[in-house]
Amino acid sequence: MKEKLRINGGVRLEGEVTVSGGKNAAVAIIPAALLADSPSTIENIPDINDVHVIIEMLRWLGAQVEFRENTMWIDPRTVDKYNPPYELASRMRASYYFAPVLLGVFRRAEVPLPGGCDIGARPIDQTVKGMCALGAKVETLGGVLVAQADELIGGDIYLDMPSVGATVNSMLTAVSASGTTCIHNAAKEPHIVDLANFLSSMGAVVKGAGTDVIRIRGGRPLHGANYTVVPDQIETGTLMIAAAATAGDVVISGVIPTHMEALSAKLLEMGVNVQSEDDWIRVRSNGHFRAVNVKTQGYPGFPTDLQQPLSALLTVANGTSIVTETIFESRFRFLDELRKMGANVRVIESTAIINGVERLVGARVNATDLRAGAAMVIAALMAEGTTEIGGVGYILRGYERFDEKLRGIGASVEKIRVSEN
Ligand code: EPU
Repeated sequence: MKEKLRINGGVRLEGEVTVSGGKNAAVAIIPAALLADSPSTIENIPDINDVHVIIEMLRWLGAQVEFRENTMWIDPRTVDKYNPPYELASRMRASYYFAPVLLGVFRRAEVPLPGGCDIGARPIDQTVKGMCALGAKVETLGGVLVAQADELIGGDIYLDMPSVGATVNSMLTAVSASGTTCIHNAAKEPHIVDLANFLSSMGAVVKGAGTDVIRIRGGRPLHGANYTVVPDQIETGTLMIAAAATAGDVVISGVIPTHMEALSAKLLEMGVNVQSEDDWIRVRSNGHFRAVNVKTQGYPGFPTDLQQPLSALLTVANGTSIVTETIFESRFRFLDELRKMGANVRVIESTAIINGVERLVGARVNATDLRAGAAMVIAALMAEGTTEIGGVGYILRGYERFDEKLRGIGASVEKIRVSEN
């Protein structure tokens, strides 16, 4: 048996929904807790599959972990291994965040190369460069990242592009290095700032997170901390697009509106009403959208993680939209699925040309990756008739209780089990 989402489209979403903690912040912060000499308590951790894989990884390494009601308690004092197995590491991208942490603790780490969504090439050369710049010897042997260092010494790391993963790994290496490290051309995403705040609350000295240059004075003993993870800006954005797509009126609460400016600006350009204050955003729409052009960029530009959900909405916009994907080349594959629902889309290299159609119609489709899954849900919510979406596992990797939250604002969505045949 496998799980599918069955969605009856055309239902207007209305009401209030609360966003969970950030997936990409949590998966960086949790491994960092192993750098401390005492337990940490981290709140607002989303209860999603990726977090459960990390918990398995922590326990395998020897840590004591409790996870209840979105709060995780981690005691790192019993960690005694530096070589997590392939079966665990290959199940998510963030597993390689354990490499700099274990290197810091044991001066050696052996971490199988990361898995994660198949959305294009996901090299790790910038991570390797960062670790080497601080004195580590790093090689990949039989698909395993092997890093060792008798001593880590702070220095300059120049990233070729503002990679999220390489910035996280450079920060996690730098806190264990003596002296000062400067990470140049760093990623500026909210989860980078959140990791910096967590490291600071553990006693590290981290300055400049959220700008192009992060400075870390490392080598200090780190202690456990109490911390609350930021709200997930991609879940926030997905819900904003879902509200707009269904001509809805939804208040999305527990959010940081400034994290959403790139999307809010696009939605306003499309004719959607977006209003925000303090920790909520209200999205209202009449179901008529103007076509817009979108180009993905690192924060504060338009995030690649929302490209697919927004593209789904653009399939019914009035006119032609040009969407350019600059980060992950395979993030247009899901458009084949949208075509099954009646979308009129052409892809030329990294550009999708979306000619708006009157409406989409329900079909049997598949989520090809996490955010593609979110895009299929949005397409299904606005389509005429019923859509069945396979590949639910991808969606549950990153969205906490997604179907339940959507039902709470009126969507007709249920998880069903169907036979493999
Ligand atoms: N890149 C390199 N070399 C490197 C690292 C990256 O060439 O060593 C390139 C990549 O090929 C890509 C670009 O740099 O073209 C940016 O990649 P980045 O390293 O920033 O991505 P990531 O760290 O692998 C994280 C998120 C992704 C999100 C991207 C971009 C996590 C665990 N994952 O991936 O999230 O799409 O940043 O913002 O934080 C998702 O949540 O669905 C997801 C895929």
